[in-house]
Amino acid sequence: MSKVSIIGAGFVGSTVAHWAMISGGCQIVLLDVVDGLAKGKVLDLIQSGPIAGHAIDAIGTTDYADTADSEIVIVTAGVARKPGMTREDLVSINAGIVRDVVQRVVEKSPNAILIMMTNPLDTMTYLAHQVSGLPRERVIGQAGVLDGGRMKTFIAMETGISPENIHTTVLGGHGDEMVPLVRYSTIAGMPLTYFLSQEQIDHIVARTRDGGAEIVRYLKTGSAYYAPGASACKMAQAIIRNQHHIYPASVYLQGEYGLNDICFGVPVVLGKNGIERIIEIDLDEEEKTMMRKSADLIRSTMAHLGQPAHS
Ligand code: APR
Repeated sequence: MSKVSIIGAGFVGSTVAHWAMISGGCQIVLLDVVDGLAKGKVLDLIQSGPIAGHAIDAIGTTDYADTADSEIVIVTAGVARKPGMTREDLVSINAGIVRDVVQRVVEKSPNAILIMMTNPLDTMTYLAHQVSGLPRERVIGQAGVLDGGRMKTFIAMETGISPENIHTTVLGGHGDEMVPLVRYSTIAGMPLTYFLSQEQIDHIVARTRDGGAEIVRYLKTGSAYYAPGASACKMAQAIIRNQHHIYPASVYLQGEYGLNDICFGVPVVLGKNGIERIIEIDLDEEEKTMMRKSADLIRSTMAHLGQPAHS
């Protein structure tokens, strides 16, 4: 059974644990800095097992020793976005948390694959890559699965066609300048333009980009967690089961897509080693411009990291 540790037992972390329990096949360690929080959430989860018919092997803790030798560590620790706050506003608070968490995690699980969820996602994935010293194949930011899932939802809502038939590709940073690629999104292999007007497509692209903020506006306190939790769980399953699924993920780039020294959402093959391969697709000039704009926004966020990433 694969050991999966989840750091942060707030809305996102506990929802990841819930999805992981439903998917099965892993031993779950939920850790939070707040005493009793992870223990309480896990006790509740365990008690749901016999009712819902799920076997669950889980513990809640504040002690990193319990996370030792994890195969996967999913990092959700941090502060969530509040209304009016951009993901970028979160950078200074969450950088301190992520530095601390990643150092402790890697000390106990030097062979782990990290799945980052704390926002601003690409910047926190970059920080985790630097602080952990792990190879880039083992530090993966979760964003594109969520953003692609949102785009799929909006296409399904607009066309009335099953999301199972819909494939979307959303690359770039997990922020306002994310890059939903209409040309690489299809309905049963057919172009979106066959089913939707340009106006409808533009609306779907805009709503996808605003997907997280739309939920924040409704919730008023806190941000999304069901779909982010499901997304991280999909990625973890692809690794645990060595599925070689292609997902967009934020990864440290070394020249791919003309970008260097940045974590950025690109299509990757996920398997037992983490990122097995980065896929470079052809982009037209307009798409390249969107990718550049998105990278520029991440770099401006990275500029707020403050201390050197290696500290
Ligand atoms: N170590 C462990 N846990 C921590 C630490 C730390 N150093 N600092 C904070 N936490 C915990 C908090 O105690 C809290 O339980 O992280 C949890 C965060 O939970 P929520 O406040 O409910 O936030 P959540 O909605 O789960 O979002 C967490 O994921 O999607 C992103 O933008 C979101 O960055 C945010 C993160």
